[in-house]
Amino acid sequence: KDDLVVLGIETSCDDTAAAVVRGSGEILSQVVASQADLLAKYGGVAPKMAEEAHLQVIDQVVQEALDKANLIASDLTAVAVTIGPGLSLCLRVGVRKARKLAGSFSLPIIGVHHMEAHALVARLTERKLQFPFMAMLISGGHNLLILARELGQYVQLGTTIDDAIGEAYDKTAKWLGLDMRRGGGPAIEELAREGDAESVKFSTPMKQHKDCNFSYAGLKTQVRLAIESRNINAEIPISSATNHDRSSRADIAASFQRVAVLHLEERCERAIEWARKIEPSIKCLLVSGGVASNQYVRAQLDKVVKKNNLQLICPPPSLCTDNGVMVAWTGIEHFSVGRFDPPPPPDEPEDLM
Ligand code: KG4
Ligand code: ZN
Repeated sequence: KDDLVVLGIETSCDDTAAAVVRGSGEILSQVVASQADLLAKYGGVAPKMAEEAHLQVIDQVVQEALDKANLIASDLTAVAVTIGPGLSLCLRVGVRKARKLAGSFSLPIIGVHHMEAHALVARLTERKLQFPFMAMLISGGHNLLILARELGQYVQLGTTIDDAIGEAYDKTAKWLGLDMRRGGGPAIEELAREGDAESVKFSTPMKQHKDCNFSYAGLKTQVRLAIESRNINAEIPISSATNHDRSSRADIAASFQRVAVLHLEERCERAIEWARKIEPSIKCLLVSGGVASNQYVRAQLDKVVKKNNLQLICPPPSLCTDNGVMVAWTGIEHFSVGRFDPPPPPDEPEDLM
């Protein structure tokens, strides 16, 4: 397994990413081209525009990943690519590129599930992370609680019934007039440090549902109403706000974050209970996805995990947000147990990909 060299390509949402990883876990290169500027300008991801942006940079991103690894495509063992879930227009850009490259150099190809990749990358950074383990995957599009029993054997303990937590962070940031260029999440995390987390009484979602599912649509509405009732104008960027206005925005950011994360804590606690009924031997909770790079989220979940005698594992922030390493690594895990597709024909027409 150590000799494998796999290229991973990720284009499921708004980041164009590629990386080359060795079976030993060595990351040979990692390249991410983000569409943060587009995101900041339009306040969300528009599939057609995101597709265009991927198309503009995909060749360059993949080439750079190979160059930085000091490799040419024929040195690769295989190509791994995200095939879902995600925006289909965007996924196709990555899949076409992967199939073209794999076809030209006669390389096997491995289709990767984006959420499995978010989870498995932790086995690259933490060699002690053995199956079975629990995973909480929190990003802009997903809120999942999973029991990973074996490679490819996942029990879903909970998911969101509407929005994911990252979406709630992003909307809150937009409505508070924050600088979205680094994403809404980091902007809220930063501003929340100035605010009083008890000042706005948002209610915790789904208290009456004794399960492990999530809901963030209601909290979003509560936040929007709080912002309206305080006459906060998102057109005025936070950098131009008066002191009073700024502290009022910070209070909302902190109060939102407290409840948004409390919802994670409560579901997590119950999920541990459920997971132990199926796999009493679990030792770790892995938290990954873009929102897992948040320090407050990590600290709060660490408390829950410690209380339950588990260990918290979080990949470094650059491997929590969308990246090519997680795709390459998941490709390696599957390839090592014989799960891959043969090389596509070298002259495969694009409209068949
Ligand atoms: O995993 P990811 O890069 O893409 C998806 O698969 O969705 O996650 C992106 C999400 C965005 O909603 C972003 O605002 C959020 O992760 N995020 C954060 C932080 N950094 C990124 N949310 C809260 N705090 C952060 N520090
Ligand atoms: Zn993701």
